[in-house]
Amino acid sequence: MKAADIRKTFLEYFQSKGHTIVASSPVVPGDDPTLLFTNAGMNQFKDVFLGFDKRPYSRATTSQKCIRAGGKHNDLDNVGYTARHHTFFEMLGNFSFGDYFKHDAIQYAWGLLTEEFKLPKEKLWVTVYSEDDEAYDIWHKVVGVPAERIVRIGDNKGGRYMSDNFWMMGDTGPCGPCTEIFFDHGPEIAGGPPGSPDEDGDRYIEIWNNVFMQYNRTEDGVMHPLPKPSVDTGMGLERIATVLQGKHSNYEIDLFQNLLAAARTAVAAASPGGEGFDANSPSLKVIADHIRACSFTVADGVIPSNEGRGYVLRRITRRAIRHGYKLGARTPYFHKLVAALVAEMGEAYPELRQNEKRITEVLKTEEERFFQTIANGMEILDAALATVETAGTKQIDGETAFKLHDTYGFPVDLTADVCRERDVTVDQGGFDAAMARQREQARAAGKFKMAAGLEYSGVATGFHGYEHLTVDAANVTAIYVDGASVQQAHAGDDAVIVLDHTPFYAESGGQCGDSGELRNATSRFLVEDTLKIQADVFGHHGRIVEGSVQVGDKLNARVDAELRAKTVRNHSATHLMHKALREVLGDHVAQKGSQVTPDRTRFDFSHGQPLSDEEIREIEELVNAEVLANAEAQAQVMALDDAQRSGAMMLFGEKYGETVRVLSIGSSKELCGGTHVRRTGDIGLFKIVAEGGVAAGVRRVEAITGANALSYTQNLEGTLKGVAALLKATPHDVPARVAAAQDQIRALEKEIASLKGKLASSQGDELMAQAADVKGVKVLAATLEGADAATLRNTMDQLKNKLKTAVIVLAAVDGGKVQLAAGVTADVLAKPAAKVKAGELVNFVAQQVGGKGGGKPDMAMAGGTDASALPQALAGVQAWVAERL
Ligand code: ALA
Repeated sequence: MKAADIRKTFLEYFQSKGHTIVASSPVVPGDDPTLLFTNAGMNQFKDVFLGFDKRPYSRATTSQKCIRAGGKHNDLDNVGYTARHHTFFEMLGNFSFGDYFKHDAIQYAWGLLTEEFKLPKEKLWVTVYSEDDEAYDIWHKVVGVPAERIVRIGDNKGGRYMSDNFWMMGDTGPCGPCTEIFFDHGPEIAGGPPGSPDEDGDRYIEIWNNVFMQYNRTEDGVMHPLPKPSVDTGMGLERIATVLQGKHSNYEIDLFQNLLAAARTAVAAASPGGEGFDANSPSLKVIADHIRACSFTVADGVIPSNEGRGYVLRRITRRAIRHGYKLGARTPYFHKLVAALVAEMGEAYPELRQNEKRITEVLKTEEERFFQTIANGMEILDAALATVETAGTKQIDGETAFKLHDTYGFPVDLTADVCRERDVTVDQGGFDAAMARQREQARAAGKFKMAAGLEYSGVATGFHGYEHLTVDAANVTAIYVDGASVQQAHAGDDAVIVLDHTPFYAESGGQCGDSGELRNATSRFLVEDTLKIQADVFGHHGRIVEGSVQVGDKLNARVDAELRAKTVRNHSATHLMHKALREVLGDHVAQKGSQVTPDRTRFDFSHGQPLSDEEIREIEELVNAEVLANAEAQAQVMALDDAQRSGAMMLFGEKYGETVRVLSIGSSKELCGGTHVRRTGDIGLFKIVAEGGVAAGVRRVEAITGANALSYTQNLEGTLKGVAALLKATPHDVPARVAAAQDQIRALEKEIASLKGKLASSQGDELMAQAADVKGVKVLAATLEGADAATLRNTMDQLKNKLKTAVIVLAAVDGGKVQLAAGVTADVLAKPAAKVKAGELVNFVAQQVGGKGGGKPDMAMAGGTDASALPQALAGVQAWVAERL
């Protein structure tokens, strides 16, 4: 049975039992910051289990794309070494939301396996959570599985509920005891039954996990009972396909055959030694596995980077590249597998086909980058391994692993992967320490700007800048000069001042810090920027211009209202633009960075190609329509969970507190701590002024608002009017007039070229008279004014015809550069004693003017760079020819 048929049979079986078939959710969970990647079929139903979300069905079934390469469920290290682990796999599942429970779940599973799939009952084993007598009894008494094939598993992972038979989605979320079904691949495969010391072998393979969802685990470790007991199951499509196709390794099933072949071909093509590697190498399996994880991840909007999901993607990609390198590949090959994957899975997952080009490009760029350093990195690693092996220590030191990471782009798990092949480990503690040291250094280096290095232990700063631009009589709680805490600072000092209350917004979330002034009756401090010293301690950076300031003084704080107004226009416009970008370009658009200042907003986002003029126009129109609607902006502080449920956009990788601020403006709703306009109409006018690429798969747009947008369009109009005036036309007529002028220029250029030719050939006639007679041969060496290479060649032909028996050198000078042509007529070449060849002659001249050239015996061209030596070089031609006739 093909994998595609298994998928279909599974879904239809549960459909026949009243389940609704639901589509797979993306591998990047849209609204769950607790989750790196979708790691199970139940992820998209998390809120339904928790009772926060309701669906029109109480039974569902899916085939879910999953990635287990980071976070709680991480199989990366096993891939390639076992027959059954993947970074990417498809999970078939059935779900009950407060509908059926243990009885039906177990019987459905048994029915599908033994009746639909016709698996021999005696090859199936089951495990139950040791305390779950109910599940045990259903298996034993109702289904009839003999006691010797039912294994009870308790808390075998070092804590209460830490068990192979107690499933948790992550550190928090829905969880419960589970029962797992195993298939016995037979005594010829090594491994023992579940719960035995050899359980990790490949003989007894878990194919299906049925979880009885009963609790919600919160961060404090407390298990809260769920509103209704539910069921969540997961069966790896690749594992069940292995069983049903009579194989013992997932890599032998149909889904992998073409991928493995494509990996072989691509690696061989990139290897100087061709396919000189073992066609069954585990490295090929790693590559075939990783192309799936990488492609699906990119398709869902992730790009390789140094943090969060992007870093997981980078680690998997580089690990695959290294395995190709091990087989012999020395140039990018991995991205070439995307096409094979699309052919294999594009039907079931159209997002692969839609994004094929982008995925290929993103992976290619990452490969090109890593291939620049991998050879040097491998050399260092090999040397270190040789040392370790000689010393017999079996461990690579943390410094070396860190250097490989920092300088050669080797993620530490890649280094560990190489080491493991030689039975060596990595000193992870040493690596972490080196990493921490580097972070500390970077932090210290960036101290002044970051302000984060300043020691502060006073009260937090109360921020009033959402409602007010001024705060009177704020207390000075700390002053810093040159990075050190001081009691007092004086006129002329650059300082950082901390207040207990402030209306100044401190740079965060992409919005720049406020500027303005702090003052009292005797002193004045100009604030140039505001930066956070700690999460809730704001440093006002600037200079004392009058008097002095002491800790304990009271100052009136006043934000520069005009600059702030410009900034908030740009910030609010950014939210509307983000929304419009997703609407026009698609949901793959995810924010990758933003910077909002009074001058403009700069916004980076994932998208594969340049925006067309049409798309830019559409985005501008959408945003300006929201501006005209003049909707009120609303900020609401709420629990993170509520914000998630409200559908507010949030950035992955951001750490959000338990309560968050949700900013609704027009049709946009985003988590945001920034300051905003009161109504969209305050933005005035929105205009995109630049669009470009910043990295593979990341675009950047810059936009302006309000008076900036007005003066931008006024400037453009001014320029256009200026051009129109020069052309003596109306602005409207400019394009046609410029096009006409260009046509005219082209016509004139043609005319000049033909005149030049005429001029040169008329010079040709005059030149004939200058030819000297050397032993019956006409010898001519002359310069043609204003000629180009074509003219030289034409004139040469004419002169040869006219002089008949001749040796000719023609030169032209253009801006210090010399063009040369030499020609010898056929009858001179035919003379038995003559040794005059055009190629040698042109070289003779060219060498003297700093160049070289060549060609055939009858015609040769050359160039040179030293025009001043030309007259003498030409003067020598006659003697050169005379010697050879
Ligand atoms: N959520 C369960 C698992 O992933 C079914 O094993």
